[in-house]
Amino acid sequence: MTVGEKEKTVIIGVTGGIACYKAVELVRLLVKDSLAVQVIMTRAAMEFVTPLTFQTLSGKPVATETFNLTQESEIGHINLADSADLFVIAPATANVIGKIAAGIADDLLTTVLMATQAPVLIAPAMNIHMYENPILQENIRKLRRIGYHFMEPAEGYLACGYEGKGRLPEPEKILEEIRSLLRKKDLLGERFLITAGPSREPLDPVRYISNRSSGKMGYALARAAVRRGAGVVLVSGPSAIEPPSAVRLIPVNTAAEMRRAVLEQFPECTAVIMAAAVADYRPVDASSKKLKRGKAPLDIRLEPNPDILRELGRRKNGKLLVGFAAETEELIANATRKLHEKNLDLIVANDVTQAGGGFDGDTNIATIVDRSGASDSLSLMTKDELADRIYDHLLALKDKHSDGNS
Ligand code: CTP
Repeated sequence: MTVGEKEKTVIIGVTGGIACYKAVELVRLLVKDSLAVQVIMTRAAMEFVTPLTFQTLSGKPVATETFNLTQESEIGHINLADSADLFVIAPATANVIGKIAAGIADDLLTTVLMATQAPVLIAPAMNIHMYENPILQENIRKLRRIGYHFMEPAEGYLACGYEGKGRLPEPEKILEEIRSLLRKKDLLGERFLITAGPSREPLDPVRYISNRSSGKMGYALARAAVRRGAGVVLVSGPSAIEPPSAVRLIPVNTAAEMRRAVLEQFPECTAVIMAAAVADYRPVDASSKKLKRGKAPLDIRLEPNPDILRELGRRKNGKLLVGFAAETEELIANATRKLHEKNLDLIVANDVTQAGGGFDGDTNIATIVDRSGASDSLSLMTKDELADRIYDHLLALKDKHSDGNS
């Protein structure tokens, strides 16, 4: 892949896990895609695959040692760091992620990484219990916050004998992610207002009504927008996910708080993407004291919350509006009705009854519908991939608008 005339250089850092064999295929795919590939291996990685394998495929000597005089004079670790358009670590062990998060640079890979200014993509692969270890998860959160990109491990049979999350994603998937990170910043100048997560409507000081939204879709949209050059304000209901540091986060709880924050930010943005699962109703009188247990059934009266997106649709003012429609029946018909009723430009419809298409997971199955009635039915994909597709549609709409106005 070349942008302009310049060939792009990708550093592939290979660390010591059984998934090293997949990194071999990844390097082959990258070279086939006309990318210049420089492999750096850790000592542990060389226990699994020999440098000769990577050298033969990449056509370049593999860098392995910080203090090897020949390598240092011929390549040099700072030159290596400067040469990268993208730095990928695949597979990444829990150990290397821990070292990076702690700022340790005690081998060539971590030293070059410390010196690079290129974006970094990390693809962890390990035993499921190691992956779920809170120390590793904390390290990933920290690195994400700083701006490192992560690929979620795939689920399935693991070499250690367990089933679960921990497999290195297939090389084709990593290649796709690499292509997307190398893509030019096509959202520069845009300022997106994105909402994410559920709203919580209090019943009393300790209880609330809410829904199963995790915030994953909205945060994936925020990450993708930042990666593609947009400014992002993220108005988020409660979520365990960390946004990248470039995102301005406005945390909220209730739909009313979300409405207030969104209306306040609206004048400054170029587009709004409402991925939040806003509760349609709230208790009429939230009790200021904890409700006590009683013998009789408890009736709770609910009143409708304001429809934030509909309100934005009324005062649109040239901004692009994107909504989501989580449906259990009549997917396209319901989504299209919402698109017109709320005066939106795009709606992302998903059937939450389909496996892999519901709340909380890392994937989604969506159909993107626009005002002309055109619909793009997408297959099962990660929420990160879906975020990119939504932006591709948004850009295509903008192009159409500007063609129409010229
Ligand atoms: N939405 C909103 N304010 C609300 C409810 C929903 O802004 N009070 C937004 C959502 O963020 C989403 C879109 O409207 O982008 C559609 O939400 P959805 O819950 O699917 O539709 P509703 O209009 O609430 O209709 P229903 O729940 O009856 O399907």
